[in-house]
Amino acid sequence: MRAIQRRRQEPPGSRLSSTKIHGTPPRPESEVDGGADRAPSHPVTHDVRFLETDQVRSAHNLFAATIHRGPMEDERWPRVARSYSPGRTIGVHHGSTLVATAMSFPSELVVPGGAVLPMAAVTRVGVRPDHTRRGLLSAMMRAQLDDVAARGEPVATLRASEARIYGRFGYGVATRGRDVTVRVTRPAWRPGAPQGGSVRLLDRDEILPALQKVHEAVALTRTGSMTRRDSWWWSSIGRRVEDREPVIAAVHTGDHGDDGFAVAFRGESHSFAEQTLELADLHAADVQATAGLWRFLLGVDLVGSVQADLRPLDEPLELLLASPRACVVTGHHDETWLRLVDVPAALAARSYGVADPVLIAVHDPLLEKNAGVYRIAGATAERVGPLGGPVTPQLECDVAALAMAYLGDRTPSELVATGWWQAPDQAAVPHADAAFGTTASPWCGTYF
Ligand SMILES: CC(C)(COP(=O)(O)OP(=O)(O)OC[C@H]1O[C@@H](n2cnc3c(N)ncnc32)[C@H](O)[C@@H]1OP(=O)(O)O)[C@@H](O)C(=O)NCCC(=O)NCCS
Repeated sequence: MRAIQRRRQEPPGSRLSSTKIHGTPPRPESEVDGGADRAPSHPVTHDVRFLETDQVRSAHNLFAATIHRGPMEDERWPRVARSYSPGRTIGVHHGSTLVATAMSFPSELVVPGGAVLPMAAVTRVGVRPDHTRRGLLSAMMRAQLDDVAARGEPVATLRASEARIYGRFGYGVATRGRDVTVRVTRPAWRPGAPQGGSVRLLDRDEILPALQKVHEAVALTRTGSMTRRDSWWWSSIGRRVEDREPVIAAVHTGDHGDDGFAVAFRGESHSFAEQTLELADLHAADVQATAGLWRFLLGVDLVGSVQADLRPLDEPLELLLASPRACVVTGHHDETWLRLVDVPAALAARSYGVADPVLIAVHDPLLEKNAGVYRIAGATAERVGPLGGPVTPQLECDVAALAMAYLGDRTPSELVATGWWQAPDQAAVPHADAAFGTTASPWCGTYF
């Protein structure tokens, strides 16, 4: 696995960016509540800046309110505070009132071919309901993209609450997942399905360290995967274990050592003899380990079904089960929204399939340095000219649509067919498919 170094590390809190945006003033409460619709009498300034560490808790509570959650309890705040990286939380003030926030934390993303790119993981984005649709998110996104670019992180990713928010900022859906409910049948497994190796159940106090170790070993071998921080493990798994929730956590050991893990909590159940397990996390190095872990979960006594969200699209459950219909797909979702912040670096970092060279024009109105014609040839990708210059592109797309093909989730031909990409030279489409194609579905498996 190749690691690409960060270009620059900011000392904590060293930079303070301040942008003024002018917009319609928020309406007084009487108007928000349906009062007279008066025109604003004066422009209002919103200040967009990076917050100091002592302002982050207010930002956290503001974000929580925008997703209809309550403020953080005092005793939990010190743990949650660790999930904020100094100097990476943006706040927008209206006067002295914080009205919008967005943050990012440093992580890494695995791209086709195995390179690991520094990545900004963008999260906790929220605007107070009485200040929405005045351009505050747009201002924060611009400030954040500039910051991420200055940090030398060539990619940013996020999980979107709604699908119509982030495309305009150059984010495209780059990995997807499916929700499944697997019913326990007897026998559960098709004769000939891989047996897997051995599975050992973990004691509660072993869970976090054991899972972290296996995740580091196996998850980063998959395109689309990312590294996790201690604070992620605590807030997603550790907190629930600490709260004494019933949990089943297990590690799979194959021919070459520990190669997968699963952790499931008790879900809502109406039958004591057929309870539901909610799979919170399962990563495995290969089909053997995947099969071993699912076989284990479905074999636990008093379990009638296992529910799992956002599993890889190519997880081969139907091929393993005695009855493929025991696996019911209950939903499909976008998972990773990817922003190629430094297109030349990102394109150069991934590998390509064997194909004739292709010339792709990339548009990026927000980060214009990315705009240009790129040549993908053999193992290399490089910018060979500006847009509208002497090099005639065969294919054309904006940066968000490029992100949709970047990890291999979508093929250039389906993007051309649906109008996401244009193909002035149709003959280039199969070559682009061969260059961008990957064998496994990209998948991250980390919700943040
Ligand atoms: C989503 C949210 C951050 C948008 O903030 P905002 O300040 O209103 O966004 P902006 O005013 O900068 O909007 C920019 C553009 O996006 C559009 N837009 C913003 N939110 C949208 C939404 N939820 N659905 C559709 N379009 C949206 C705006 O209409 C605007 O379009 P325009 O430029 O064509 O007029 C805000 O509504 C919010 O906090 N929602 C609840 C929390 C949430 O979902 N956070 C995101 C977590 S991933």
